[in-house]
Amino acid sequence: MDKQILRIPEGTKDIFGLNIKKKREVEKKLIESFEEYGFDEVSLPSFEFFDVFSDERGTTPSKDMFKFVDREGETLVLRPDMTPQVARCVAKYYAEETNPIKICYLGNTFVNNSGFRGKLKESTQIGAELFNASCAKDDALMIEMMIKALLDAGAKKLQVEIGMASFYKALVKEACLDEEESAKLKELISNKNLFAVESLLSNKAIPEGLKDLFLQLSKVFGNFSKVAALMNKTDNIEALKAFERLESLHSELEAKGLEKYITYDLGMLSNFDYYTGIIFRAYTEGSGEPIAAGGRYDSLLSQFGKESPAIGVAVYVDSLLSALEKNEQEEAKNNSDYLIVALAKGRLANQTMEMFKKIGIECEEIFDKTTRKLIFVNEEKKMKFFLAKASDVPTYVEYGAADLGVVGLDTILEEGRQLYEVMDLNLGKCRMCVAGPESARELLQHGELIRVATKYPNIAKDYFVNVKHQTVELIKLNGSVELAPIVSLAQVIVDIVETGSTLRENGLKVLEEICNLSARMVVNQVSLKLKADKINELIDNMREVLREQQ
Ligand code: PRP
Repeated sequence: MDKQILRIPEGTKDIFGLNIKKKREVEKKLIESFEEYGFDEVSLPSFEFFDVFSDERGTTPSKDMFKFVDREGETLVLRPDMTPQVARCVAKYYAEETNPIKICYLGNTFVNNSGFRGKLKESTQIGAELFNASCAKDDALMIEMMIKALLDAGAKKLQVEIGMASFYKALVKEACLDEEESAKLKELISNKNLFAVESLLSNKAIPEGLKDLFLQLSKVFGNFSKVAALMNKTDNIEALKAFERLESLHSELEAKGLEKYITYDLGMLSNFDYYTGIIFRAYTEGSGEPIAAGGRYDSLLSQFGKESPAIGVAVYVDSLLSALEKNEQEEAKNNSDYLIVALAKGRLANQTMEMFKKIGIECEEIFDKTTRKLIFVNEEKKMKFFLAKASDVPTYVEYGAADLGVVGLDTILEEGRQLYEVMDLNLGKCRMCVAGPESARELLQHGELIRVATKYPNIAKDYFVNVKHQTVELIKLNGSVELAPIVSLAQVIVDIVETGSTLRENGLKVLEEICNLSARMVVNQVSLKLKADKINELIDNMREVLREQQ
Protein backbone atom coordinates (compact mmCIF):
# COMPACT_ATOMS: atom_id res chain seq x y z
CA MET A 1 0.00 0.00 0.00
CA ASP A 2 1.15 3.54 -0.72
CA LYS A 3 2.30 5.03 2.62
CA GLN A 4 1.70 8.53 1.17
CA ILE A 5 -1.95 8.12 2.12
CA LEU A 6 -0.99 8.21 5.81
CA ARG A 7 0.54 11.71 5.66
CA ILE A 8 -1.08 14.78 7.20
CA PRO A 9 -0.34 18.35 6.05
CA GLU A 10 2.44 20.30 7.75
CA GLY A 11 1.07 22.42 10.59
CA THR A 12 -1.76 20.02 11.49
CA LYS A 13 -1.82 17.26 14.07
CA ASP A 14 -3.74 14.21 15.17
CA ILE A 15 -4.45 14.32 18.88
CA PHE A 16 -5.42 11.19 20.75
CA GLY A 17 -5.15 9.26 24.01
CA LEU A 18 -4.16 11.23 27.09
CA ASN A 19 -3.40 14.35 25.04
CA ILE A 20 -6.94 14.84 23.80
CA LYS A 21 -8.24 14.23 27.32
CA LYS A 22 -5.90 16.95 28.64
CA LYS A 23 -6.92 19.32 25.85
CA ARG A 24 -10.64 18.84 26.49
CA GLU A 25 -10.09 19.33 30.23
CA VAL A 26 -8.28 22.64 29.67
CA GLU A 27 -10.92 23.79 27.17
CA LYS A 28 -13.69 22.96 29.63
CA LYS A 29 -11.98 24.90 32.43
CA LEU A 30 -11.47 27.95 30.23
CA ILE A 31 -15.04 28.05 28.90
CA GLU A 32 -16.42 27.51 32.42
CA SER A 33 -14.28 30.38 33.73
CA PHE A 34 -15.71 32.67 31.05
CA GLU A 35 -19.26 31.49 31.72
CA GLU A 36 -18.83 32.27 35.42
CA TYR A 37 -18.38 35.89 34.34
CA GLY A 38 -21.66 35.77 32.45
CA PHE A 39 -20.35 35.11 28.93
CA ASP A 40 -22.56 33.00 26.65
CA GLU A 41 -21.01 30.62 24.15
CA VAL A 42 -21.68 30.96 20.43
CA SER A 43 -20.70 28.58 17.66
CA LEU A 44 -19.70 30.22 14.39
CA PRO A 45 -18.87 28.75 10.96
CA SER A 46 -15.32 27.64 10.20
CA PHE A 47 -15.33 29.64 6.99
CA GLU A 48 -16.73 33.02 6.00
CA PHE A 49 -16.72 35.39 3.07
CA PHE A 50 -13.27 36.89 2.53
CA ASP A 51 -14.58 40.43 3.18
CA VAL A 52 -15.04 39.72 6.91
CA PHE A 53 -11.26 39.39 7.27
CA SER A 54 -10.11 41.88 4.64
CA ASP A 55 -7.28 44.32 5.41
CA GLU A 56 -8.93 46.91 7.60
CA ARG A 57 -10.90 44.38 9.66
CA GLY A 58 -8.59 41.40 9.78
CA THR A 59 -5.41 40.48 11.53
CA THR A 60 -3.85 38.21 8.97
CA PRO A 61 -2.32 39.22 5.63
CA SER A 62 -4.35 37.93 2.70
CA LYS A 63 -1.46 35.71 1.52
CA ASP A 64 -1.51 33.86 4.85
CA MET A 65 -5.19 32.90 4.62
CA PHE A 66 -6.58 29.64 3.26
CA LYS A 67 -8.87 30.92 0.49
CA PHE A 68 -11.17 29.03 -1.81
CA VAL A 69 -14.05 29.72 -4.16
CA ASP A 70 -17.61 28.39 -3.78
CA ARG A 71 -19.98 27.27 -6.55
CA GLU A 72 -21.24 30.82 -6.96
CA GLY A 73 -17.72 32.14 -7.50
CA GLU A 74 -17.54 33.91 -4.12
CA THR A 75 -14.19 33.92 -2.30
CA LEU A 76 -14.31 32.21 1.08
CA VAL A 77 -11.65 31.88 3.77
CA LEU A 78 -11.07 29.48 6.63
CA ARG A 79 -11.18 31.90 9.57
CA PRO A 80 -7.67 33.08 10.52
CA ASP A 81 -8.97 34.83 13.64
CA MET A 82 -12.29 34.93 15.45
CA THR A 83 -12.74 38.52 16.60
CA PRO A 84 -13.92 39.99 13.24
CA GLN A 85 -16.27 37.02 12.94
CA VAL A 86 -17.81 37.62 16.39
CA ALA A 87 -18.07 41.32 15.53
CA ARG A 88 -19.95 40.38 12.34
CA CYS A 89 -22.26 38.13 14.37
CA VAL A 90 -23.01 40.81 16.99
CA ALA A 91 -23.69 43.49 14.35
CA LYS A 92 -26.15 41.08 12.73
CA TYR A 93 -28.05 39.67 15.72
CA TYR A 94 -27.74 42.45 18.29
CA ALA A 95 -28.05 45.43 15.96
CA GLU A 96 -30.26 47.48 18.33
CA GLU A 97 -28.86 46.24 21.67
CA THR A 98 -27.25 48.96 23.78
CA ASN A 99 -26.68 46.98 27.00
CA PRO A 100 -23.44 45.03 27.47
CA ILE A 101 -23.22 41.90 25.31
CA LYS A 102 -20.99 39.07 26.55
CA ILE A 103 -20.00 36.37 24.11
CA CYS A 104 -17.47 33.57 24.37
CA TYR A 105 -16.39 30.99 21.82
CA LEU A 106 -14.25 27.95 21.21
CA GLY A 107 -13.06 27.19 17.72
CA ASN A 108 -10.17 26.43 15.42
CA THR A 109 -8.41 29.10 13.39
CA PHE A 110 -6.38 28.55 10.22
CA VAL A 111 -3.29 30.46 9.15
CA ASN A 112 -1.19 29.43 6.17
CA ASN A 113 2.10 30.51 7.74
CA SER A 114 5.46 29.75 6.18
CA GLY A 115 6.78 26.24 6.48
CA PHE A 116 9.15 24.34 8.78
CA ARG A 117 8.77 26.69 11.71
CA GLY A 118 6.99 24.23 13.97
CA LYS A 119 3.95 26.52 14.01
CA LEU A 120 0.48 25.09 13.77
CA LYS A 121 -1.58 26.12 10.77
CA GLU A 122 -4.73 24.96 12.53
CA SER A 123 -4.97 25.88 16.19
CA THR A 124 -7.62 26.23 18.85
CA GLN A 125 -8.70 29.53 20.38
CA ILE A 126 -11.03 30.11 23.29
CA GLY A 127 -12.02 33.70 23.69
CA ALA A 128 -14.46 36.18 25.11
CA GLU A 129 -15.68 39.48 23.71
CA LEU A 130 -17.47 42.19 25.64
CA PHE A 131 -19.50 44.71 23.61
CA ASN A 132 -21.17 48.01 24.54
CA ALA A 133 -18.64 48.46 27.31
CA SER A 134 -16.23 51.36 27.28
CA CYS A 135 -14.87 51.89 30.82
CA ALA A 136 -11.55 51.11 32.44
CA LYS A 137 -13.59 48.89 34.79
CA ASP A 138 -14.53 46.73 31.79
CA ASP A 139 -10.88 46.47 30.74
CA ALA A 140 -9.97 45.39 34.27
CA LEU A 141 -12.74 42.81 34.33
CA MET A 142 -11.48 41.16 31.14
CA ILE A 143 -7.92 41.01 32.45
CA GLU A 144 -9.09 39.63 35.78
CA MET A 145 -11.14 36.97 34.00
CA MET A 146 -8.22 35.99 31.78
CA ILE A 147 -5.86 35.67 34.76
CA LYS A 148 -8.32 33.54 36.72
CA ALA A 149 -9.04 31.33 33.71
CA LEU A 150 -5.34 30.75 32.97
CA LEU A 151 -4.46 30.03 36.59
CA ASP A 152 -7.35 27.66 36.82
CA ALA A 153 -6.11 25.89 33.70
CA GLY A 154 -2.74 25.35 35.43
CA ALA A 155 -0.52 28.19 34.11
CA LYS A 156 2.45 28.90 36.39
CA LYS A 157 4.45 32.12 36.90
CA LEU A 158 1.80 33.96 34.95
CA GLN A 159 2.74 37.41 33.74
CA VAL A 160 0.41 39.81 31.95
CA GLU A 161 1.85 42.70 30.03
CA ILE A 162 -0.27 45.70 29.20
CA GLY A 163 0.38 48.26 26.47
CA MET A 164 -1.66 51.09 24.99
CA ALA A 165 -2.17 51.19 21.22
CA SER A 166 -3.57 54.74 21.28
CA PHE A 167 -0.43 56.12 22.95
CA TYR A 168 1.84 55.16 20.04
CA LYS A 169 -0.77 56.26 17.49
CA ALA A 170 -0.87 59.74 19.09
CA LEU A 171 2.93 60.07 18.96
CA VAL A 172 3.08 58.94 15.33
CA LYS A 173 0.47 61.55 14.42
CA GLU A 174 2.52 64.24 16.18
CA ALA A 175 5.67 63.12 14.35
CA CYS A 176 3.82 63.30 10.99
CA LEU A 177 5.23 59.92 9.91
CA ASP A 178 3.74 58.37 6.80
CA GLU A 179 2.21 54.89 6.88
CA GLU A 180 5.37 53.11 5.75
CA GLU A 181 7.63 54.92 8.25
CA SER A 182 5.16 54.36 11.04
CA ALA A 183 4.97 50.62 10.27
CA LYS A 184 8.79 50.33 10.19
CA LEU A 185 9.16 52.26 13.44
CA LYS A 186 6.47 50.11 15.04
CA GLU A 187 8.33 46.96 14.05
CA LEU A 188 11.64 48.26 15.45
CA ILE A 189 10.12 49.45 18.73
CA SER A 190 8.24 46.15 19.10
CA ASN A 191 11.55 44.30 18.65
CA LYS A 192 13.18 46.57 21.25
CA ASN A 193 15.79 47.41 18.64
CA LEU A 194 17.06 50.62 20.19
CA PHE A 195 19.89 51.15 17.70
CA ALA A 196 17.71 50.81 14.64
CA VAL A 197 15.07 53.14 16.16
CA GLU A 198 17.80 55.69 16.76
CA SER A 199 19.14 55.43 13.22
CA LEU A 200 15.67 55.55 11.63
CA LEU A 201 14.81 58.74 13.50
CA SER A 202 18.23 60.37 13.23
CA ASN A 203 17.59 62.16 9.94
CA LYS A 204 13.90 62.91 10.49
CA ALA A 205 12.71 66.42 11.26
CA ILE A 206 11.11 65.45 14.56
CA PRO A 207 11.56 67.42 17.81
CA GLU A 208 14.35 65.93 19.98
CA GLY A 209 11.95 65.34 22.89
CA LEU A 210 9.68 63.24 20.74
CA LYS A 211 12.61 61.27 19.31
CA ASP A 212 13.74 60.53 22.83
CA LEU A 213 10.25 59.36 23.78
CA PHE A 214 10.19 56.90 20.83
CA LEU A 215 13.55 55.61 22.03
CA GLN A 216 12.32 55.24 25.59
CA LEU A 217 9.36 53.22 24.33
CA SER A 218 11.71 50.47 23.20
CA LYS A 219 13.54 50.20 26.50
CA VAL A 220 11.23 51.19 29.35
CA PHE A 221 8.91 48.49 30.66
CA GLY A 222 8.07 46.99 34.03
CA ASN A 223 5.99 48.22 36.91
CA PHE A 224 3.59 51.12 36.55
CA SER A 225 5.82 53.79 38.06
CA LYS A 226 8.56 53.04 35.50
CA VAL A 227 6.20 53.61 32.61
CA ALA A 228 4.55 56.59 34.33
CA ALA A 229 7.89 58.42 34.31
CA LEU A 230 7.56 58.68 30.52
CA MET A 231 4.57 60.97 30.89
CA ASN A 232 6.75 63.90 31.92
CA LYS A 233 8.29 63.72 28.49
CA THR A 234 5.22 64.69 26.49
CA ASP A 235 2.46 67.28 26.36
CA ASN A 236 0.67 65.56 23.50
CA ILE A 237 -2.98 65.72 24.61
CA GLU A 238 -4.02 62.47 22.92
CA ALA A 239 -1.04 60.62 24.39
CA LEU A 240 -1.75 62.00 27.86
CA LYS A 241 -5.40 60.96 27.52
CA ALA A 242 -4.28 57.44 26.60
CA PHE A 243 -2.01 57.41 29.61
CA GLU A 244 -4.77 58.61 31.98
CA ARG A 245 -6.83 55.69 30.81
CA LEU A 246 -3.96 53.33 31.60
CA GLU A 247 -3.70 54.92 35.02
CA SER A 248 -7.39 54.23 35.74
CA LEU A 249 -6.93 50.63 34.65
CA HIS A 250 -3.92 50.31 36.91
CA SER A 251 -5.98 51.54 39.92
CA GLU A 252 -8.75 49.04 39.09
CA LEU A 253 -6.28 46.17 38.86
CA GLU A 254 -4.61 47.23 42.10
CA ALA A 255 -7.98 47.27 43.85
CA LYS A 256 -8.52 43.71 42.64
CA GLY A 257 -5.14 42.68 44.10
CA LEU A 258 -3.82 41.63 40.69
CA GLU A 259 -0.73 43.86 40.46
CA LYS A 260 1.66 40.98 41.08
CA TYR A 261 0.70 39.54 37.69
CA ILE A 262 0.94 42.82 35.78
CA THR A 263 3.71 44.73 34.03
CA TYR A 264 3.40 47.60 31.56
CA ASP A 265 5.11 48.18 28.24
CA LEU A 266 4.10 51.09 26.02
CA GLY A 267 6.45 49.72 23.37
CA MET A 268 4.37 46.56 23.02
CA LEU A 269 2.65 47.34 19.74
CA SER A 270 0.26 44.96 18.07
CA ASN A 271 0.16 44.11 14.37
CA PHE A 272 -3.59 44.11 14.72
CA ASP A 273 -4.61 47.51 13.48
CA TYR A 274 -8.10 47.30 14.90
CA TYR A 275 -6.91 47.88 18.46
CA THR A 276 -7.73 51.37 19.70
CA GLY A 277 -6.93 51.26 23.44
CA ILE A 278 -5.25 48.83 25.80
CA ILE A 279 -3.61 45.71 24.44
CA PHE A 280 -2.35 42.86 26.59
CA ARG A 281 -0.53 39.57 26.38
CA ALA A 282 -0.18 36.76 28.90
CA TYR A 283 3.00 34.76 29.27
CA THR A 284 3.83 31.72 31.29
CA GLU A 285 6.92 29.73 31.90
CA GLY A 286 7.42 26.98 29.33
CA SER A 287 6.18 28.89 26.31
CA GLY A 288 8.34 31.08 24.09
CA GLU A 289 5.26 32.96 22.88
CA PRO A 290 2.13 34.47 24.47
CA ILE A 291 -0.51 32.01 25.64
CA ALA A 292 -3.28 34.61 25.50
CA ALA A 293 -3.74 38.10 24.13
CA GLY A 294 -6.39 40.73 23.73
CA GLY A 295 -7.26 44.36 23.56
CA ARG A 296 -9.81 47.10 23.09
CA TYR A 297 -11.21 47.65 19.60
CA ASP A 298 -13.77 50.45 19.73
CA SER A 299 -14.19 50.99 15.99
CA LEU A 300 -14.19 47.47 14.55
CA LEU A 301 -17.97 47.04 14.85
CA SER A 302 -18.63 50.20 12.86
CA GLN A 303 -17.10 48.31 9.92
CA PHE A 304 -20.11 46.00 10.19
CA GLY A 305 -22.61 48.84 10.66
CA LYS A 306 -22.93 49.01 14.47
CA GLU A 307 -21.38 51.51 16.85
CA SER A 308 -20.13 49.61 19.89
CA PRO A 309 -17.02 49.97 22.01
CA ALA A 310 -15.62 46.51 22.69
CA ILE A 311 -12.81 44.53 24.27
CA GLY A 312 -11.80 40.92 23.78
CA VAL A 313 -9.39 38.24 24.89
CA ALA A 314 -8.29 35.00 23.21
CA VAL A 315 -6.47 32.10 24.81
CA TYR A 316 -4.21 30.15 22.44
CA VAL A 317 -5.09 26.70 23.72
CA ASP A 318 -2.33 24.77 21.92
CA SER A 319 0.39 27.16 23.16
CA LEU A 320 -1.03 26.91 26.68
CA LEU A 321 -1.03 23.11 26.51
CA SER A 322 2.53 22.88 25.26
CA ALA A 323 3.61 25.34 27.98
CA LEU A 324 1.96 23.20 30.65
CA GLU A 325 3.68 20.11 29.30
CA LYS A 326 7.09 21.78 28.95
CA ASN A 327 6.72 23.25 32.40
CA GLU A 328 6.62 19.78 33.92
CA GLN A 329 9.81 18.78 32.05
CA GLU A 330 11.63 22.04 32.84
CA GLU A 331 10.74 21.79 36.50
CA ALA A 332 12.33 18.34 36.54
CA LYS A 333 15.52 19.84 34.99
CA ASN A 334 15.41 22.98 37.14
CA ASN A 335 15.91 25.01 33.96
CA SER A 336 13.70 27.84 35.12
CA ASP A 337 16.41 28.86 37.63
CA TYR A 338 19.04 29.31 34.88
CA LEU A 339 19.64 31.87 32.20
CA ILE A 340 20.26 29.89 29.01
CA VAL A 341 22.49 31.45 26.35
CA ALA A 342 22.85 30.24 22.74
CA LEU A 343 26.11 31.18 21.04
CA ALA A 344 27.02 30.95 17.35
CA LYS A 345 29.97 28.58 17.38
CA GLY A 346 33.31 29.83 16.15
CA ARG A 347 35.08 33.15 16.60
CA LEU A 348 31.97 35.02 17.62
CA ALA A 349 31.34 32.67 20.56
CA ASN A 350 34.89 33.23 21.79
CA GLN A 351 34.63 37.01 21.46
CA THR A 352 31.28 36.99 23.27
CA MET A 353 32.70 34.93 26.12
CA GLU A 354 35.56 37.43 26.40
CA MET A 355 32.98 40.18 26.85
CA PHE A 356 31.07 38.12 29.41
CA LYS A 357 34.35 37.62 31.28
CA LYS A 358 34.61 41.40 31.69
CA ILE A 359 31.32 41.41 33.59
CA GLY A 360 32.35 38.50 35.77
CA ILE A 361 30.69 35.66 33.87
CA GLU A 362 33.15 32.93 32.99
CA CYS A 363 32.96 29.46 31.53
CA GLU A 364 36.44 28.24 30.59
CA GLU A 365 35.21 24.78 29.65
CA ILE A 366 33.56 26.20 26.54
CA PHE A 367 37.03 26.80 25.03
CA ASP A 368 38.16 23.23 25.64
CA LYS A 369 38.61 21.82 22.12
CA THR A 370 38.84 18.22 23.35
CA THR A 371 35.33 18.08 24.76
CA ARG A 372 32.29 16.97 22.79
CA LYS A 373 29.97 18.46 25.38
CA LEU A 374 27.25 20.72 24.00
CA ILE A 375 26.05 22.45 27.15
CA PHE A 376 28.27 24.27 29.63
CA VAL A 377 27.19 25.44 33.06
CA ASN A 378 28.34 28.23 35.35
CA GLU A 379 26.69 27.00 38.52
CA GLU A 380 27.64 30.04 40.59
CA LYS A 381 26.02 32.52 38.15
CA LYS A 382 23.22 30.08 37.35
CA MET A 383 23.92 30.31 33.62
CA LYS A 384 23.98 27.67 30.91
CA PHE A 385 25.67 28.14 27.55
CA PHE A 386 25.39 26.13 24.39
CA LEU A 387 27.07 26.36 21.02
CA ALA A 388 24.90 26.11 17.94
CA LYS A 389 25.22 26.70 14.21
CA ALA A 390 24.81 30.44 13.67
CA SER A 391 21.68 30.07 11.55
CA ASP A 392 20.01 28.06 14.33
CA VAL A 393 20.63 30.58 17.13
CA PRO A 394 17.56 32.75 16.31
CA THR A 395 15.43 29.59 16.19
CA TYR A 396 16.53 28.44 19.67
CA VAL A 397 15.82 31.91 21.03
CA GLU A 398 12.46 32.39 19.31
CA TYR A 399 11.12 29.14 20.74
CA GLY A 400 12.50 29.86 24.20
CA ALA A 401 14.93 26.91 24.18
CA ALA A 402 17.48 29.64 24.97
CA ASP A 403 16.62 32.85 26.82
CA LEU A 404 19.14 34.85 24.85
CA GLY A 405 21.61 34.46 22.03
CA VAL A 406 24.45 36.21 20.28
CA VAL A 407 24.50 36.07 16.50
CA GLY A 408 25.28 38.16 13.42
CA LEU A 409 22.72 40.57 12.01
CA ASP A 410 23.01 38.70 8.68
CA THR A 411 21.52 35.61 10.29
CA ILE A 412 18.85 37.61 12.12
CA LEU A 413 17.74 39.30 8.89
CA GLU A 414 17.81 36.07 6.94
CA GLU A 415 15.87 34.05 9.51
CA GLY A 416 13.25 36.74 10.23
CA ARG A 417 12.32 35.36 13.67
CA GLN A 418 10.20 36.93 16.40
CA LEU A 419 12.86 38.19 18.80
CA TYR A 420 13.89 41.20 20.80
CA GLU A 421 17.11 42.51 19.29
CA VAL A 422 18.42 44.38 22.31
CA MET A 423 22.04 45.22 21.70
CA ASP A 424 24.70 45.78 19.06
CA LEU A 425 27.83 44.13 20.45
CA ASN A 426 30.10 45.85 17.95
CA LEU A 427 31.73 42.50 17.18
CA GLY A 428 32.22 40.82 13.80
CA LYS A 429 31.71 44.02 11.84
CA CYS A 430 31.30 43.48 8.10
CA ARG A 431 29.04 44.39 5.17
CA MET A 432 26.39 42.60 3.14
CA CYS A 433 27.19 43.30 -0.50
CA VAL A 434 26.37 42.48 -4.07
CA ALA A 435 29.64 41.38 -5.64
CA GLY A 436 30.83 40.07 -8.97
CA PRO A 437 33.19 40.80 -11.84
CA GLU A 438 33.42 44.45 -12.91
CA SER A 439 31.58 43.50 -16.12
CA ALA A 440 28.43 42.73 -14.09
CA ARG A 441 28.08 46.32 -12.83
CA GLU A 442 26.17 47.33 -15.95
CA LEU A 443 23.64 44.52 -15.50
CA LEU A 444 22.79 45.88 -12.08
CA GLN A 445 22.39 49.43 -13.35
CA HIS A 446 20.05 48.45 -16.17
CA GLY A 447 17.82 46.29 -14.02
CA GLU A 448 18.25 43.26 -16.28
CA LEU A 449 17.09 39.79 -15.32
CA ILE A 450 20.18 38.31 -13.68
CA ARG A 451 21.14 35.24 -11.71
CA VAL A 452 22.21 35.83 -8.13
CA ALA A 453 23.88 33.17 -6.00
CA THR A 454 23.79 33.54 -2.22
CA LYS A 455 23.68 31.94 1.20
CA TYR A 456 21.09 34.60 2.08
CA PRO A 457 18.11 34.26 -0.30
CA ASN A 458 15.72 36.26 1.91
CA ILE A 459 18.09 39.22 2.25
CA ALA A 460 18.89 39.08 -1.49
CA LYS A 461 15.20 38.86 -2.43
CA ASP A 462 14.29 41.75 -0.15
CA TYR A 463 17.06 43.90 -1.63
CA PHE A 464 16.42 43.18 -5.31
CA VAL A 465 12.61 43.08 -5.17
CA ASN A 466 11.77 45.74 -2.56
CA VAL A 467 14.72 48.13 -2.78
CA LYS A 468 15.90 47.88 -6.40
CA HIS A 469 12.66 46.61 -7.97
CA GLN A 470 14.74 44.30 -10.16
CA THR A 471 13.64 40.79 -11.10
CA VAL A 472 16.30 38.20 -10.37
CA GLU A 473 16.73 34.43 -10.35
CA LEU A 474 18.03 33.41 -6.95
CA ILE A 475 20.22 30.38 -6.44
CA LYS A 476 20.75 29.24 -2.86
CA LEU A 477 24.26 28.02 -2.07
CA ASN A 478 25.68 26.90 1.26
CA GLY A 479 29.24 28.24 1.14
CA SER A 480 32.16 29.39 -1.03
CA VAL A 481 29.66 31.57 -2.87
CA GLU A 482 32.47 33.45 -4.67
CA LEU A 483 32.80 30.42 -6.93
CA ALA A 484 29.44 31.06 -8.59
CA PRO A 485 30.41 33.97 -10.90
CA ILE A 486 33.78 32.36 -11.68
CA VAL A 487 32.20 29.15 -12.98
CA SER A 488 29.29 31.08 -14.59
CA LEU A 489 26.61 29.69 -12.28
CA ALA A 490 25.49 33.27 -11.59
CA GLN A 491 26.43 36.76 -12.70
CA VAL A 492 26.63 38.22 -9.19
CA ILE A 493 26.56 37.08 -5.57
CA VAL A 494 25.07 38.51 -2.39
CA ASP A 495 27.45 37.77 0.45
CA ILE A 496 29.31 39.04 3.47
CA VAL A 497 32.48 41.03 2.90
CA GLU A 498 34.76 41.47 5.89
CA THR A 499 38.36 42.14 4.82
CA GLY A 500 37.53 41.84 1.10
CA SER A 501 40.40 39.39 0.55
CA THR A 502 38.20 36.50 -0.66
CA LEU A 503 36.77 38.77 -3.36
CA ARG A 504 40.18 40.19 -4.32
CA GLU A 505 41.85 36.81 -4.61
CA ASN A 506 39.09 35.67 -6.94
CA GLY A 507 39.02 38.73 -9.19
CA LEU A 508 35.67 39.98 -7.90
CA LYS A 509 34.56 43.39 -6.63
CA VAL A 510 31.95 44.90 -4.37
CA LEU A 511 29.37 46.29 -6.82
CA GLU A 512 26.72 47.49 -4.36
CA GLU A 513 26.42 47.67 -0.59
CA ILE A 514 23.25 46.37 1.02
CA CYS A 515 23.85 47.05 4.72
CA ASN A 516 26.35 47.06 7.55
CA LEU A 517 26.45 44.04 9.82
CA SER A 518 27.64 43.23 13.32
CA ALA A 519 26.82 40.79 16.11
CA ARG A 520 23.65 41.38 18.11
CA MET A 521 22.29 40.14 21.38
CA VAL A 522 18.79 38.73 20.89
CA VAL A 523 16.36 37.83 23.65
CA ASN A 524 13.31 35.62 23.77
CA GLN A 525 10.19 37.71 24.15
CA VAL A 526 8.81 35.75 27.09
CA SER A 527 12.16 35.41 28.89
CA LEU A 528 12.60 39.18 28.89
CA LYS A 529 9.38 39.38 30.94
CA LEU A 530 9.74 36.33 33.16
CA LYS A 531 13.47 36.67 33.86
CA ALA A 532 13.45 40.47 33.58
CA ASP A 533 15.78 41.26 36.50
CA LYS A 534 18.51 38.85 35.47
CA ILE A 535 18.41 39.76 31.79
CA ASN A 536 18.21 43.52 32.36
CA GLU A 537 21.20 43.35 34.70
CA LEU A 538 23.18 41.46 32.07
CA ILE A 539 22.21 43.95 29.35
CA ASP A 540 23.12 46.95 31.53
CA ASN A 541 26.50 45.45 32.42
CA MET A 542 27.27 44.64 28.79
CA ARG A 543 26.30 48.18 27.74
CA GLU A 544 28.76 49.48 30.33
CA VAL A 545 31.55 47.33 28.83
CA LEU A 546 30.69 48.65 25.37
CA ARG A 547 30.77 52.23 26.60
CA GLU A 548 34.21 51.69 28.12
CA GLN A 549 35.47 50.19 24.86
CA GLN A 550 34.40 53.21 22.82
C1 PRP B 1 32.51 34.37 4.61
C2 PRP B 1 31.79 35.03 3.46
C3 PRP B 1 32.90 35.29 2.46
C4 PRP B 1 34.06 35.58 3.37
C5 PRP B 1 34.28 37.07 3.44
O1 PRP B 1 32.67 33.04 4.29
O2 PRP B 1 30.78 34.19 2.95
O3 PRP B 1 33.12 34.18 1.66
O4 PRP B 1 33.74 35.08 4.67
O5 PRP B 1 35.39 37.42 4.24
P1 PRP B 1 36.57 38.38 3.71
O6 PRP B 1 35.93 39.59 3.12
O7 PRP B 1 37.37 38.69 4.96
O8 PRP B 1 37.36 37.61 2.72
P2 PRP B 1 33.04 31.93 5.38
O9 PRP B 1 34.45 32.08 5.82
O10 PRP B 1 32.02 31.94 6.44
O11 PRP B 1 32.96 30.57 4.54
P3 PRP B 1 31.87 30.01 3.50
O12 PRP B 1 31.86 30.93 2.32
O13 PRP B 1 32.34 28.66 3.12
O14 PRP B 1 30.55 30.00 4.19
